[in-house]
This record gives sequence, structure tokens and C-alpha cells, in this order.
Amino acid sequence: MSDIIANDWNAGSDRYFAENASEAIIDRIVSDPMWAFPEEMRVMLRAAFPDFRGRRVLVPSSGDNAAVFAFHLLGADVTSADIAERQLYNAKNIADARGWAIDFVHDDSMKLGHIESGTYDLVYTSNGVHVWIDDLPSMYRNFYRVLKPGGQYVMFEVHPFNRPLTQDKDDLFRIACAKPYEATGPHFDIPNHHWRVQDLFSAMTGAGFSVRSLIEFHSQTGCHSCWWYQDARAAEADGCRLSDWKRNPFAALPQWIGFWAEKGGRL
Ligand SMILES: C[S@@+](CC[C@H](N)C(=O)[O-])C[C@H]1O[C@@H](n2cnc3c(N)ncnc32)[C@H](O)[C@@H]1O
Repeated sequence: MSDIIANDWNAGSDRYFAENASEAIIDRIVSDPMWAFPEEMRVMLRAAFPDFRGRRVLVPSSGDNAAVFAFHLLGADVTSADIAERQLYNAKNIADARGWAIDFVHDDSMKLGHIESGTYDLVYTSNGVHVWIDDLPSMYRNFYRVLKPGGQYVMFEVHPFNRPLTQDKDDLFRIACAKPYEATGPHFDIPNHHWRVQDLFSAMTGAGFSVRSLIEFHSQTGCHSCWWYQDARAAEADGCRLSDWKRNPFAALPQWIGFWAEKGGRL
């Protein structure tokens, strides 16, 4: 299953980077590294680490590497791991062009076979990682393993409550139900998993993590991900109507969920 997913990401990687890691986006992260995170996640990350300088940070399933670049610019010693070689190649090209010393490691987040145990202060994952993972307990056991005692795990993802619902493609203000919440998958040809809140929580605590905080929040226009719109300009042009729950019932749900968890011990 992992090969199908890696091949698909390799095939789409150049386009993905052109859209999600353009020079303008990277310049924006350079001028304000915290912009790479939604506002609510900035608060969580700052509470976990008031200062990232000298901290060892692992970003598994690193994708567009926006978070990787941000942590590097904040002074952390960062490892970016992904299952798709082309994603790592595109990210490394950006890092090399900017003279950033970042480790790029080809690895499966469910195994982290090239990552040493007990060596990281923070494991961070964001937006679009869990959907590709068919074995959450293994992934969380390895996140736990690679952290130092007292190490932190921080993540945000699509809120699972959104998964059963779809927008009518001819009328974006109409929503329909596509499946029950419990239908976790796999769905589609390139297998997707729509994990529930209880699946995330159980995998985390089952691996040994203590959950410090859980947040549910809405997408904000102007942030790096506008959710309902392609970008902030499209949102503004539409008067942000799709973000208004009185017009679009789907917008009443939180779009994102975030967790902050800890491995027992002292950093
Ligand atoms: C949507 S990105 C998520 C990361 C980032 N937040 C982003 O928005 O680009 C998904 C990434 O997960 C990677 N991926 C999928 N399955 C993986 C696995 N089992 N182990 C490691 N990486 C994986 C893909 O290659 C892709 O780069």
C-alpha cells in the first residue's frame, strides 16, 4: 500500500511544490517563519517551546516542508522525513538554494527505520499526514520511540467531523452526507483513511503519550491554508461567503483539530 502512495506523491511532486512551496511562499516563511503555522498552532508551539534554538525537531511525512523550513529558520536542528523521494528532492533543492542545513531522510512514518531512538525534542506533523497512514498505532509507537524523555508531539489535521460530508459541486453552499463517521476506509484507488478523533487519541495514548491539549479551530482567511478557497485573494474576491456558517452550514464545523502530547520524563 505504501508503494502506491509513494508513487502517487512522486508523480505529483513537481506540481505540488510549484503550488505549495513557490518562491513567494518560501519568501513569506523567511520573513515570518511562524506564518507557516495556523494561529492556534503558533500558540501551542510557543507554549511547548518558547525558544526553538538548538532543539532537535523531526517532521515525518514532511510534504511541502513549510514547517521544516520554519523550524530551521527559528533556529532548530531539523530532520525532514518522507516516503516520496521526489518530495525530498524538491525540498532539498529549496534548502540548498537558500543555504539551509537540513537533514532529508527517506523514511516511512510508520517505521522511521533511519531515525535513532530517544534523540528528538519535538515531533511535528501537519495537515494531510494521517490520511495516508494505515497503521496509526505503529506510527505513534515510532514517534514516541524517537523522542527524548519529556519530548513533545504537536500536530494539526483536518478535523475528522468533516469527513462524512461533501459539498455539492454545482452549489457549494449545499452539503450532503457521503458516508458514516465510522467508515474509516481505506477509500479511493490511492488508499485514504478517514480516522476518527477516537482513533487519533487511542493511537497516541496507546503508544504511551500523555495528551496535554486538544484544540478544534476554524480556518482563517489570509493564513497559509484558506480551506474553502484556493488562496486569500479568491476568498476576498468572494467576500469570504463560504466561511460564514449562516450561509454555508459546513462552515459551522471546525475545519482543524490540533493535539499536543508528551512523552513522560524530563527534557
Ligand atoms: C499533504 S502532505 C502532508 C505534509 C505537509 N503538511 C503538507 O501540507 O505538504 C503528505 C505527505 O505525506 C507523505 N507520505 C504519505 N505516506 C507516508 C508514509 N507512510 N510515510 C512517510 N511519508 C508519507 C507524502 O509523500 C507527502 O509528502
